[in-house]
Amino acid sequence: MAEDLIIQDGDKKSQYESLIPQIKGLMAGEHNLVANLGNITAALKEQFNWLWVGFYWVESDELVLAPFQGPVACTRIKKGRGVCGTSWEKGITLIVDDVEKFPGHIACSSASRSEIVVPVFQNGQIVGVLDVDSTELAHFDAIDQTYLEEIVGLLDQF
Ligand code: SME
Repeated sequence: MAEDLIIQDGDKKSQYESLIPQIKGLMAGEHNLVANLGNITAALKEQFNWLWVGFYWVESDELVLAPFQGPVACTRIKKGRGVCGTSWEKGITLIVDDVEKFPGHIACSSASRSEIVVPVFQNGQIVGVLDVDSTELAHFDAIDQTYLEEIVGLLDQF
């Protein structure tokens, strides 16, 4: 079965609004978590062409690298460390306009300038985070937060 993504031009909101039904379609009837995480990252990368987009998943007291698109990345992040570990510890989305100004930022790629990290919840517990990196300063805003939170919300049932 062909699984071609329709790429939307235009403003960011239109891009997310075209992409989200397609992500729902890709996930429909598929209960394998890794398959769904893989397609979510691929769809986001294809639509937005960010430097890096991927998941880290909770494994005891660490986050472990999970499906992603982009350059190779660090594999383990402790709770409270970096942007990802801080988002996990606090249970909130973090938008970092300039990664060099975030104390303890973990530089997986020197090309990353700004970042958004969104926690993933299942049954009220944080099970992972979605991390997105851009080569541009201050690339992410409340629009990204709203739509990325909606996208990771699709994982609640898995
Ligand atoms: N910058 C992240 C680490 C993960 S990479 O960006 C892929 C952080 O500070 O947690």
